[in-house]
Amino acid sequence: VVAFFQPKLLAGKRVLVTAGPTFEALDPIRGITNHSSGKMGFALARAAREAGADVTLVAGPVHLPTPRGVTRIDVKSAREMLQATLGEEPRADVFVATAAVADWRPAAQSEQKIKKPASGAAPVVAFTENPDILQTVAQGARARSGALFCVGFAAETHDLAAHARAKLVRKGIPLIVGNIGPLTFGLDDNQMLLVDAQGVRELPRASKTVLARQLVAEIARRIAG
Ligand code: CTP
Ligand code: CA
Repeated sequence: VVAFFQPKLLAGKRVLVTAGPTFEALDPIRGITNHSSGKMGFALARAAREAGADVTLVAGPVHLPTPRGVTRIDVKSAREMLQATLGEEPRADVFVATAAVADWRPAAQSEQKIKKPASGAAPVVAFTENPDILQTVAQGARARSGALFCVGFAAETHDLAAHARAKLVRKGIPLIVGNIGPLTFGLDDNQMLLVDAQGVRELPRASKTVLARQLVAEIARRIAG
């Protein structure tokens, strides 16, 4: 299906998407990250663009081509992702947080490579919590006034609907998309649950491209209504 045939459901709207993992440095050559491929976020950015939106994609370290017509900002860490997101948020109508943001980062980053001590003792790494990008945006003035529609993603291994609903409430967002991770990471297919104040709706297993278009249609319907 060619972009040309997609209905322009988001014409005139600005959509901001976070995607991929973050990378949290421990020293100049090491760090912690996760298996997020970025595929869902990139598919969503492409689908929003095809629907006529002006799209900015804040991407963690992934090897994916930028969808045509999408503005991409590459970041590494959660804190960089937050800064880039907050820089774009004032102009956005929709924010979709698909990124698998590392919940913690090493409390200290060594400027030099950490060497093995002669004693053979393993280092103990202390972690500190990263900012919650979605929650920060959702608690901002624009989201609270209804000018910015925020959508979260929840990757869970169990009790998907219950965990997704708890996140919806905790983060104060109108819509969250649940998917069964880590089974979805890196795959081209996905299966999603849409959870909102009304209830739960299942989007059956399909390609991330198809699901992204369905999600775009759901978002367009909600911001129009
Ligand atoms: N999220 C975010 N910034 C973070 C953590 C999460 O923006 N520091 C966003 C994700 O992009 C996703 C949503 O919040 O849209 C839910 O992420 P998830 O990791 O499932 O939830 P957490 O609140 O981090 O809880 P937990 O990992 O303990 O399940
Ligand atoms: Ca998390």
